Amino acid sequence: MTILLNADGHEHGQWCAAIKTYLPAHDIVQYPYVPDVAAIDYALIWNHPDGDLDNYPNLRAVFSLGSGVDYLDRFLTLPDAPIFRLVDPSMAQDMAHYVLYWTLHYQRAFETYRLQQQRAQWASRSAPRASEFTVSLLGLGAIGSHIAKTLAASGFTVLGWSRSPKALDGVVCRHGEQGLTSVLSEADLLVCCLPLTPKTDGFLDVSILSSLRRGAVVVNVSRGAVMNEADLLSGLDSGHISGAVLDVFSVEPLPAESSLWTHPNIHITPHISGATGPGTAMQIIARQIADFERGILPLYPYSRDV
Ligand code: GLV
Repeated sequence: MTILLNADGHEHGQWCAAIKTYLPAHDIVQYPYVPDVAAIDYALIWNHPDGDLDNYPNLRAVFSLGSGVDYLDRFLTLPDAPIFRLVDPSMAQDMAHYVLYWTLHYQRAFETYRLQQQRAQWASRSAPRASEFTVSLLGLGAIGSHIAKTLAASGFTVLGWSRSPKALDGVVCRHGEQGLTSVLSEADLLVCCLPLTPKTDGFLDVSILSSLRRGAVVVNVSRGAVMNEADLLSGLDSGHISGAVLDVFSVEPLPAESSLWTHPNIHITPHISGATGPGTAMQIIARQIADFERGILPLYPYSRDV
């Protein structure tokens, strides 16, 4: 069996080591150096070029090495082999911790204390109880649901929104247009976990952002293109939005000249809220390949209709 690996330049050495550990009987071919296209059984890919997967006549299945599938949505042709996406609980946990960290930062007024320290100002602030602080999440997929449950377990009031109805323990779930208006207007902190699709491209624009309650904070951990960055900057400048935490950007790496870098009310991280760890990911993919060979399909098939 031969595995084609393209981790798009991310930690190829670690991916190879993890493949050797969890799939010791498989040979590894590192894209783009493929000596024998007919030998490839499985492709493990991230940001792979459109059309290339058609070159492997014996390809049995494709495993995408991340959670987002927007690069697959841009493919003009899909291979005959099924594609599965990675849902790694370790990544979901990292993302939940990232959001919890920033939720605490704003709920407990740590942002204010940081600014006070610059002025050597000693002044305690009253903070709402966690239950009095409402976090609204847009998108209740595998990652959004995990973030919502983590925040609810820490005592926050959590509202979740999805296009179709969902139910989650400890989370008030709303859907549709009306549900959206209410989760926006009640949020102290809004978390964007929406996948990037043609429907969500530029979704967080002035009409959505102005429906937030005054002083709300916005956290984006999904894809930069879901956010209209100019509208966000206007919302911050007018004071309607009091802060933003951005881990993802419409252009990555974020260009040095972007005004997002220097805005006093924006925190920027370089797309690290939940990175795929080759070790945990390969454990999952190796199990899925073993299941696949026995005719059991992995849980998260990629499809264009979702
Ligand atoms: C990272 O952004 C991913 O989609 O896995």
